[in-house]
Amino acid sequence: MASATAKLPRVMSGMRPTGNLHLGHYVGVLTQWVKYCDTADAFFEIADLHALTTGFDDPQAIRDARNSMVADWLAAGVDPKKSTFYLQSGVPQISELETLLGMITPISWLERVPTFKGQIEELGSEVATYGFLGYPLLQLCDIAVFRGELVPVGKDQVAHLEFAREVVRRFNYLYGGGEPVLVEPKAMLSNFPDVPGTDGRKMSKSYNNAILLSDDDATTTEKVRGMFTDPQKIRRNDPGRPEICPVFSLWKFVKPQHTAIVERDCRSGALGCVQDKGDLAEALNEFLRPLRERRVLYAADEAYVERIIAEGTARAREIAAKTVADVKRAMKLT
Ligand code: TRP
Repeated sequence: MASATAKLPRVMSGMRPTGNLHLGHYVGVLTQWVKYCDTADAFFEIADLHALTTGFDDPQAIRDARNSMVADWLAAGVDPKKSTFYLQSGVPQISELETLLGMITPISWLERVPTFKGQIEELGSEVATYGFLGYPLLQLCDIAVFRGELVPVGKDQVAHLEFAREVVRRFNYLYGGGEPVLVEPKAMLSNFPDVPGTDGRKMSKSYNNAILLSDDDATTTEKVRGMFTDPQKIRRNDPGRPEICPVFSLWKFVKPQHTAIVERDCRSGALGCVQDKGDLAEALNEFLRPLRERRVLYAADEAYVERIIAEGTARAREIAAKTVADVKRAMKLT
């Protein structure tokens, strides 16, 4: 555990255990997390309560996804000796803080967070529960309970961080007596562009267009073979437009030094799409091979994964208890 790193900035981030991670998570998020293991005192959360806000009808799926998600983290190189992996539901202080901060959180602030209306439109009004309305508040508590300063997240989470800052400011104003009790967190956006999925839209589990870290070589190759390309490039020798081709975009992530050649040969018509996809599948499998080899080992060792989670969760609870004690003191609940 990272106990000798007290002076490093506190970084906090998390993911919902809703399925195996994909290439987009790896290049966009996990590589950032790996860096924070060396430069920060980082907390990485398995957000199982957040997963329940929309997945309450299938809790077993969330339980099943827990260890395999952590196997993905470990395989990507996120180091549990230099950071803290923990289970959200194993830190009851997060839920306690949610109750306390709920007292000062206007419902209108929660209702205007864009993911609230957006998710209801997408998933239906069954998801409009009390817990789901509180999603950004729970996320704020994840961060605030560790006094997280920096939060590496994707663009879609910026509104949640804005909300978090407003509630923290309100808390400090109401109860801080001039001394801030809670820390205003800052979103750290990765400057990586979105990774396209096999259909050209952003890679996402819900679009069913993702190359999973846990896929094997044959599955990856098959997915790449089915990828969209420039619809005007019908015959092998037709000149193509790499700028609109998701296969070309993936090359940039997988083997950037090769993109100039692909671009030239696609435009000239020397390179056909079938060949290009075959080459990309091979490069992609090569790129992911070391990660996948590690992943197999972690996925087979549930006892190790569970020990990592248990140790991290114990450390997380200790730190969280201190923050909640400070909050209760500020709210005269002593
Ligand atoms: N809401 C985040 C997502 O869907 C996951 C998450 C939960 C999170 N708690 C967090 C991210 C705290 C950053 C900090 O991606």
